[in-house]
Amino acid sequence: MRQKLVAGNWKLNGSKASIEALVGGILAGMDGMNNVGVAVCAPYVYIPMTQGLLVGSKVGLGSQDIADQDSGAFTGEVSGPMLNEFGCGYAIVGHSERRALYGEKDEDTARKFAAARKHGLKPILCVGETLEEREGGITEQVVARQLDAVIALEGVEALVDGVIAYEPVWAIGTGKTASPQQAQDVHAFIRGKLAALNANVAEKVQILYGGSVKGANAAELFAMPDIDGGLIGGASLDAKEFLAICQAGN
Ligand code: G3H
Repeated sequence: MRQKLVAGNWKLNGSKASIEALVGGILAGMDGMNNVGVAVCAPYVYIPMTQGLLVGSKVGLGSQDIADQDSGAFTGEVSGPMLNEFGCGYAIVGHSERRALYGEKDEDTARKFAAARKHGLKPILCVGETLEEREGGITEQVVARQLDAVIALEGVEALVDGVIAYEPVWAIGTGKTASPQQAQDVHAFIRGKLAALNANVAEKVQILYGGSVKGANAAELFAMPDIDGGLIGGASLDAKEFLAICQAGN
């Protein structure tokens, strides 16, 4: 049985005051949340503060990106060894916003996956198609290509050190959630693709769904056999809503 994981991606949101209140609200509702993994991915600058707020709790901490290098002349980047120093256990890699807005290519994402893994951070590898790609009937092709870049660099076995997040771009921040069946179909495709390469990896790897998940739709999504939790954007900024999603996975 794979445990469910609910990870919040705060994106470019928050302030010292709002994060203190948000984490306080999340921690206040964590009692009894014993069967679900919970993590929050903070903007870099708030990671040290969030680490402090999470001390002694079972809520994990992650970054929203990671450099593919350890150190050197890479202005603006933050590396695995730095994230290690501040208690990060996760690093999101290849989020569709990084791909679409900052030109991140499949190969860049694969190198970031490798960097996270090398430093003992669990990469949360995001994959997913745009609306145009879905309407063009190439969803599986796109998702396979995104996965293949990581498999080519790191080998399929490496995927058990990470988490996959299927996030259809058309469902992110739009209020349009993929139906549980639409999401399940792609999750099953991903697991089937991995199973053809390594059955053990396919069985073990957690595949999260992301895209307009909220308290009201989380349970039906998480009930699908290949959906192992969620990567939550907007709803992760509201403690009550985020806790309702966590409870759906508990
Ligand atoms: O990383 C999270 C996803 O982009 C989903 O964002 O829940 O605001 O649609 P959303």
